[in-house]
Amino acid sequence: MNILAIETSCDDTCTAILDIKDSKSRILSNIISSQVKLHKKYGGIYPSLAKREHQKNLPIVFKKALRQAQNKQKFEKPDLIAVTVGPGLEPCLWVGVNFTKELSKKLNLPIIPINHIEAHIFANFIGGNSKFQIPNSKTIFPAICLVVSGGHTQLILMRDFEKYKIVGETRDDAAGECLDKVARILGLGYPGGPIISRLAKKSTDRERVSVGLPRPMIYQKNYDFSFSGLKTAVLYDFKNRPKKIRESRGYKRAMAVEVQQAVIDVLTTKTIKAAKEYRAKSIILGGGVAANEELRKQLGKKIEKELPNIQYLIPNIQFCTDNAAMVAVTAYFHWLRGKKRKPEDIEANANLRLK
Ligand code: KG4
Ligand code: ZN
Repeated sequence: MNILAIETSCDDTCTAILDIKDSKSRILSNIISSQVKLHKKYGGIYPSLAKREHQKNLPIVFKKALRQAQNKQKFEKPDLIAVTVGPGLEPCLWVGVNFTKELSKKLNLPIIPINHIEAHIFANFIGGNSKFQIPNSKTIFPAICLVVSGGHTQLILMRDFEKYKIVGETRDDAAGECLDKVARILGLGYPGGPIISRLAKKSTDRERVSVGLPRPMIYQKNYDFSFSGLKTAVLYDFKNRPKKIRESRGYKRAMAVEVQQAVIDVLTTKTIKAAKEYRAKSIILGGGVAANEELRKQLGKKIEKELPNIQYLIPNIQFCTDNAAMVAVTAYFHWLRGKKRKPEDIEANANLRLK
């Protein structure tokens, strides 16, 4: 059996094909068409522009996924289609949903609607060799999932498969959004997350300018986050520096180190606290910001020190940022539970929530 998956919730047009064969399930193709070049000019994503690009790219990316899968094995058409229906940018989501509906009618295929946040969690179940396996629920649940992306920052208690409770989330900007905005303030380019991460690595003590940023809400007795104030603190610091300093490499590198550390401190502190309170057997990381090496490393170290008996799951780097492979594996899981739908029952929901 094969699953075709489509993901257009943000600014990447993605398709993937998953081949299911008992213990040998694997991703046959995973195509991502990035719109970074287009949005770079504006330092952020314009939904109407992103929608137009998705419309242009999706048919091409779809054919590419088919061709790549056919090169690997005999393959005519998929047996079902999975599509991200939310949360995300409404106009973008509809491009994927409408394309899926058309294809479903044409080829007479059932559809599996997928929640983008759940897909980021399921990205953890794809191995480095693109093989896919659903873990035994006894070994990982209850789990505390930290999903951090450009659009979302959520701490989710997962008591079992399909049993979710959002225990905390950002009250304003998402963690990735904060890094993207800080990069824009510093004139570093887009998307900010990977740029800030690279710059922070290059920082040396010798050239470092002293900067201090707040850790918003870190000691509050809840699991919510707030990253908008952090971005504003960067903006004030930047504006108050003499031009010579704020345009220096040393300043930008110091700021990259400090903003990345501020985000990591808040995320890891609250994640560990939630894992303790809910007696989690595992901590699961997901979303674009999960590609951040320092976050992966520092969360791992804190777990080792404070919760040495729990499992720590992180997705393979290539499956952290948006992709359709994670959508396909989530769909396989729901298909096993009989969740297929007809085209007329599918619609996009920009504010879809896990429950
Ligand atoms: O999950 P994703 O691809 O899209 C959304 O669902 O939003 O996440 C994109 C976000 C962007 O904000 C980007 O800056 C951030 O993930 N990101 C990173 C890294 N790679 C991507 N942030 C920090 N370090 C990285 N290496
Ligand atoms: Zn995402």
